[in-house]
Amino acid sequence: MNQYPKKVYLNGNILDAQSAKVSVFDRGFMFGDGIYEVMVQINGCFFYGDEHLNRLQFCLDKININFDANSLTEEIHKLLIASDLVKDDCLLYIQITRGTAPRTHSYPKKVVPTVMMYAVPKKLPEINLIHASVVTTNDYRWEKCDIKMTSLLGNVMANELAKEQNCFETLFVRDGIITEASHCNVFFIKDKVVYTHPANQFILNGITRQIVLNLCKKLKLEVIEEGVEFNDIKNMDEVFLTGTSTQIASIKQIDNHFFYKNTEIGTITKMLQQAYFELK
Ligand code: PDD
Repeated sequence: MNQYPKKVYLNGNILDAQSAKVSVFDRGFMFGDGIYEVMVQINGCFFYGDEHLNRLQFCLDKININFDANSLTEEIHKLLIASDLVKDDCLLYIQITRGTAPRTHSYPKKVVPTVMMYAVPKKLPEINLIHASVVTTNDYRWEKCDIKMTSLLGNVMANELAKEQNCFETLFVRDGIITEASHCNVFFIKDKVVYTHPANQFILNGITRQIVLNLCKKLKLEVIEEGVEFNDIKNMDEVFLTGTSTQIASIKQIDNHFFYKNTEIGTITKMLQQAYFELK
């Protein structure tokens, strides 16, 4: 069970979690009009922290929220001190909404963004050893999935579908092509070639996805950034998910199809997991 944090950073103040309050007119609450980011601290330093902050800036710019993500670096440090997590492995959540204003659909003028962050202890396993079952659903989300926005109902509903079937994740299928999962990216391997959906408007360009692509280069694995067809699932050798807290998670089953190595994690997945572990 996930826990509430001890402290919450809200608009420059660090508060006890239960005292951190925002207006009911906050556009994050009313419209899901905000951006978020999730990163982990490992051995006292944020794992690809700059890349996460750059993506936060990219997304804020995309929806015209005028905020400098780099200004958070010092504030994050203060939050970690107050949370007693300066040296500990932890997960940092950052959320920036457009701010509070009388309800109107278009962007209000002169609104001040609401900035909220918290950190909770999180010790990731050295290597994620799950060998998961996943299900699929139609990708009913919008066509701006590259924006890491707080309006996550599509992802929430898809993830719930997996939970209802005792599965780890749900893969989205758009026009017959597998895009990503509810909170992870997805990779396939066929004849030692690695396939993953290109970083366009149909997926979130995961930081872990980018790290894994670099590891493939280092390991001299051929990569094709092309979405795999739903009908081709049965022809794949290995499948895995990537994400900040998921790291690299092997998949043994998609819907009713079991991969031939369903009793053990595939060779290339294992290789990448080992390389990822060494990077950490
Ligand atoms: N989820 N795709 C989606 C839809 C995601 O929500 C995420 C991350 C990813 C993987 O991105 P990254 O490697 O940068 O974590 C892909 C975060 C962790 C979340 O919502 O909690």
